Amino acid sequence: MKTSRISGFYKLDVDERLEILKDFSNLSDEEVELLKKSKIGLDVANAMIENVIGTFELPIGIATNFLIDGKDYLIPMVIEEPSVVAAASNGARIARVKGGFQTHYTGSIMIGQIQIITENPLSAKFEILRHKDEIIEFANDMESSIIRMGGGCKDLIVRELDGMVLVHLLIDVKDAMGANFINTMCERTAPLLERITKGKALLRILSNLCPQRLAIAKAVFDKNAVGGEEVVEGILKAYELAKIDIYRCATHNKGIMNGVCAVLIATGNDFRAVESACHAYSAMMGYKPLTHYEVNEEGDLVGYIELPMSVGVVGGVKVNPLARICLKILGVESAEELARVIASVGLAQNFSALRALVSEGIQKGHMRLHAKSLAISAGAKGEEVDKVVERMIEEGKISLSRAKEILEEIRKIST
Ligand code: MEV
Repeated sequence: MKTSRISGFYKLDVDERLEILKDFSNLSDEEVELLKKSKIGLDVANAMIENVIGTFELPIGIATNFLIDGKDYLIPMVIEEPSVVAAASNGARIARVKGGFQTHYTGSIMIGQIQIITENPLSAKFEILRHKDEIIEFANDMESSIIRMGGGCKDLIVRELDGMVLVHLLIDVKDAMGANFINTMCERTAPLLERITKGKALLRILSNLCPQRLAIAKAVFDKNAVGGEEVVEGILKAYELAKIDIYRCATHNKGIMNGVCAVLIATGNDFRAVESACHAYSAMMGYKPLTHYEVNEEGDLVGYIELPMSVGVVGGVKVNPLARICLKILGVESAEELARVIASVGLAQNFSALRALVSEGIQKGHMRLHAKSLAISAGAKGEEVDKVVERMIEEGKISLSRAKEILEEIRKIST
């Protein structure tokens, strides 16, 4: 019997781990060789996470046409889903007609939470507030480039919840995503809070919800470029539905995250952190769409997006050399600029999805790419790919078996 109980797997090198895996999962030599091929290097990967046996590739696509606060961007997106990059580029092309995206950023304030268990929450709250300046000074008395750059704990608030006390350290993390910095600050400040409250500090961790770190973007989508009044009206109706129906709202917000996460992954950022923040932020208002639409006096569609955006351009994100290249392509100087770009991509993505949904539907574009990947899986090479795709689309039959049949026919004809 094969067992997954492998003692000391983490101590082995990548080759030794692959040997075990090869045996456990009956991998072929070719499969092992593919796992060993790595663009970022197995040493880098091994330093990023535990028990590494390879690296995993996804396509990087470039979204074009983005004009954000008067600056042109080419935006790297890492995603497995067809149509997302095309939709972002399309949305940006239409936004460009009326000047592109305008953005705002509320600052890089994150929250570190310290949970205090105490018999007397009211007195604990009172004592924490009485010692507020001392606590903030203590929290900031640590060696960190973020502190040197003027970041650190700026304020604190105390909440009382069900007999528990929660201290929120409000921390400016500057250009970092901030998790490590915040968690370190929480852990080292907790003993002081215990002394002050005579309570016990339990959780000491950031909150991923960061409503004081918002990236906001706006774009005017020219009514003619959108496709006319009817399409504008349709988009407004689709938006109304997302406001009143949680089932639609989940999909509406998912489309936004298609764009947001693709840029987060490309730039080496923690996409789960932003994903959870966005959904929690939307739920603060009763789970609502993260975008908003209205029509202006000219009849153009005006779109807004507001997203909590804990991203960084320094620290961990720079470990992956491909993320470094993507950041270079993007040309952002700060976490703030990256946040503004990501919000714009989210808005472009959502606008394009709604536009397609209320007009021709999204499957047409989707199916072309799907047909292409089936043609390639069937073995089509070079010009054969387009021929197989065109035939399948013409016939309305898009499947691997049909792709294989068509390929066979094409090859017979050309021999
Ligand atoms: C697909 O990944 C995303 C969409 O479903 C978003 C939406 O429905 O708004 C197209």
